[in-house]
Amino acid sequence: MTIARLARKEIRALRPYEAAVQVDDTIRLNANEAPWTSSDDHFRRPLNRYPEIRPAQLRAALAARYGCDVENLVVTRGTSEGIDLLIRVFCRAGQDSIVTTTPTFSMYRHYANVQNAALREVETTRDNDFAVAANAILEACDATTRLIFLCSPNNPTGTMLARDTLLEVLERRGSQSAVIVDEAYIEFADEPSVVKLLDQYENLIILRTLSKALAFAGARCGSVIGPRDVIAMLNAVQAPYALATPVVECVENALRTESLREAEQCVRQVISERKRLTEALAKFPFVRHIWPSSANFFLLQVDDADALMRQSSSDKVLLRYFGGTLSDCVRVTVGTQAENDRLLQTLASVVEV
Ligand SMILES: Cc1ncc(COP(=O)(O)O)c(C=O)c1O
Repeated sequence: MTIARLARKEIRALRPYEAAVQVDDTIRLNANEAPWTSSDDHFRRPLNRYPEIRPAQLRAALAARYGCDVENLVVTRGTSEGIDLLIRVFCRAGQDSIVTTTPTFSMYRHYANVQNAALREVETTRDNDFAVAANAILEACDATTRLIFLCSPNNPTGTMLARDTLLEVLERRGSQSAVIVDEAYIEFADEPSVVKLLDQYENLIILRTLSKALAFAGARCGSVIGPRDVIAMLNAVQAPYALATPVVECVENALRTESLREAEQCVRQVISERKRLTEALAKFPFVRHIWPSSANFFLLQVDDADALMRQSSSDKVLLRYFGGTLSDCVRVTVGTQAENDRLLQTLASVVEV
């Protein structure tokens, strides 16, 4: 039995929106489009025409990048839209639940709230480097648990989900829940994506994005990779023409070999700067701990997080503070070498205060 049967009944019955047919070299009088192009229109595909309802070439390029079949991938407006679509497709408002860990990326909670799906959070602890225990995840699940969100590398801790843990959750939940691995930061990790497990586990879904390692956060382009019947449902629910022509064209350019090579070079620089920054910061007397990170950021435990946030923002360097169980921690994104030097100077003045 496939996990598609866990989706809401009305979504399983939903047929995709039928768009006006688009055929090159024809006179198109079937879509109420303007017949002229604006003088500001410099795109390969003119903007007076609707984009493809789903961008086929882009979808193929992303599938090739991630190592899956085209039918296993839907292109979304950032991973954020993918999270929203999954929760809307699988969770009946007021009845179904999702399970995730804490601390983690807050969008899972946000979209669970939007859909009125219950949220069960499994606490991970700093003493244990925020490791996720399979048993704790499984104990948090019940018959209402449609989706389990696991973020790897995890935001904001930078830690990886152990493969054994993932395998145990996938196996023991089987066809009862979809397990979603959010790999927004995987390019910064030593370990590969878990996409190869798709053939073995039909309850596995993976999220990828161009926002981080490809430096395209402004383009809003993510992917949900999973079983074909789940992807078909996400396709039916996603707004028609979701990806605008300028975005499609700019992302197609970004996926050319030479652009990818440039991005890989930048990722290597970030990884090396992450090492330099964390080593330098570890020497500051007010830094108590830095968790090893597999992402383009790291979590720093300090004596006085408030003082550090005040000092850095008065020096126009922005860091991220979360409060709660992380009230003595600050998340630092790795910037350029010059930006990181500025951060180190700023923090040196915290020592002097
Ligand atoms: C773990 C994680 N997943 C997804 C996202 C969202 O990425 P996107 O820009 O693709 O919506 C973020 C953004 O910070 C993130 O930290």
